[in-house]
Amino acid sequence: MDDIILCVEGYAKQFYLHSRQRLIPSAAQVDLTVRAGQLTALIGPTGAGKSSVLKGIYRTYLPSAGRLIYTDAHGHKLDLALAGEHRILELRQREIGFVTQFLHCLPRQPALDVVAEPLVIRGATREAARKQAADLLERLAVPQRLWGVPPATFSGGEKQRINLARGLIARPRLLLLDEPTASLDSATTEHVITLIEEMKQDGIGMIAIFHHPALVERLADAVVALSPPVIAGALIETIA
Ligand SMILES: Nc1ncnc2c1ncn2[C@@H]1O[C@H](COP(=O)(O)OP(=O)(O)O)[C@@H](O)[C@H]1O
Ligand SMILES: [Mg+2]
Repeated sequence: MDDIILCVEGYAKQFYLHSRQRLIPSAAQVDLTVRAGQLTALIGPTGAGKSSVLKGIYRTYLPSAGRLIYTDAHGHKLDLALAGEHRILELRQREIGFVTQFLHCLPRQPALDVVAEPLVIRGATREAARKQAADLLERLAVPQRLWGVPPATFSGGEKQRINLARGLIARPRLLLLDEPTASLDSATTEHVITLIEEMKQDGIGMIAIFHHPALVERLADAVVALSPPVIAGALIETIA
């Protein structure tokens, strides 16, 4: 059976730097596949374009090149690089989740509501959504005294757990994880590992970037190594 959720071929992203009138490559020639219930890990040094791949898939920005063929819940295939904004927003609400490196949320929203929001957007009652949010925060060992407080003042590890809970709560079909355990202690990291394993069992496909190679070892079903893209003309510039 074809259980491929996403197939990326020849993904590339480059930025045009107006001040220097040149193209800055961010990722080049990336091929990867994500299957239901499996985790594909992206590895490579800082600047290799790992985050850039996730941002292209989530359409934080448009890819410069490549095909990103996504199979939706109804079995229809579409190229995420070509899909309209409306379709992308719909997929973000229902099917594709992204736990970014840093938490972005409204400044005065209590943590519990920040986590519950994706379910409310999908049509759950606020009460039901808050209940699930509370369950998840408990599992991630976020102390109850913080639930009613906006995450702006939280420590890095606390913010990261709110961010994770917000990404996990709606149980997307495809989940993108950008260093989800980077500032967590080892006990909390174990909770996150258990959650990721459960999501795999539920058939959720994931692409993840991990800070620690040991996590790649433990959780990845496939590993894609990226190397920093070559900047055209860089050599000439250093000689000159
Ligand atoms: N918005 C941007 N404008 C210009 N260059 C960018 C932008 N975002 C990322 N880059 C560059 O793209 C390269 C890859 O970045 P990134 O995907 O964040 O790498 P990684 O996640 O592997 O550390 C870096 O050299 C970075 O400076
Ligand atoms: Mg990154």
